[in-house]
Amino acid sequence: MGVNGGKVNIVVFRGSPRREGNTDMLLGETLKAVSDGNEIIQFTLNDMNIRPCQNCGGCDETGSCILTDDMDDIYSAIREADRIILASPIFFFGLSAQTKVMIDRCQSFWCEKYLLKKTIPSGPHGRKGLLLLVGGMKKDTGIQCAGATATAFFRTISVPEHETLGYLSIDSKGAIFNHPSALKDAYEAGAKLVAL
Ligand SMILES: Cc1cc2nc3c(=O)[nH]c(=O)nc-3n(C[C@H](O)[C@H](O)[C@H](O)COP(=O)(O)O)c2cc1C
Repeated sequence: MGVNGGKVNIVVFRGSPRREGNTDMLLGETLKAVSDGNEIIQFTLNDMNIRPCQNCGGCDETGSCILTDDMDDIYSAIREADRIILASPIFFFGLSAQTKVMIDRCQSFWCEKYLLKKTIPSGPHGRKGLLLLVGGMKKDTGIQCAGATATAFFRTISVPEHETLGYLSIDSKGAIFNHPSALKDAYEAGAKLVAL
């Protein structure tokens, strides 16, 4: 029998500061597909107290961050996660600052994995990720840059594979509704993410 009787623990990072904006709407479709019976923890990063990484070296030998703030809950949730969904708008060709601050604080996982040679153990259904990105420009530099950062994040927290959905030319609030396939894609990616 799998985790929670065949169900999975899903950790969701909401990376946009704009409530009910395009990232939220896209994520909402994914959540519809994964909600049934699974354990879901959501972190709205804009509402959290997370200090930026200080590069103090405090995690080098322990794999644990010496700062104490809302990251404590995120560290525990990541350790228990079977599926991780990272959703962010593109800001200045990268992930939102809210998302990046959280990712930088995962340097302690980097130390644990690459210096101390310990990977976070996965449950019986493995660990998988989903990256949702929305940008207002036509140019795909933001998807490439944010995608590279998110890939580093996922591998650091021992998520070996993830799917990416990225949408461009989506700018004003609600513009995602006019995209021909985005919402359907997001639903289907969610269904695939939890298919065991
Ligand atoms: C500070 C800021 C920087 C932005 N930089 C980019 C960018 O570099 N590339 C891009 O495609 N869109 C950029 N955008 C547009 C947003 O990605 C776009 O409006 C998106 O739909 C916002 O998603 P949300 O509604 O979930 O917040 C930027 C928006 C803001 C506020």
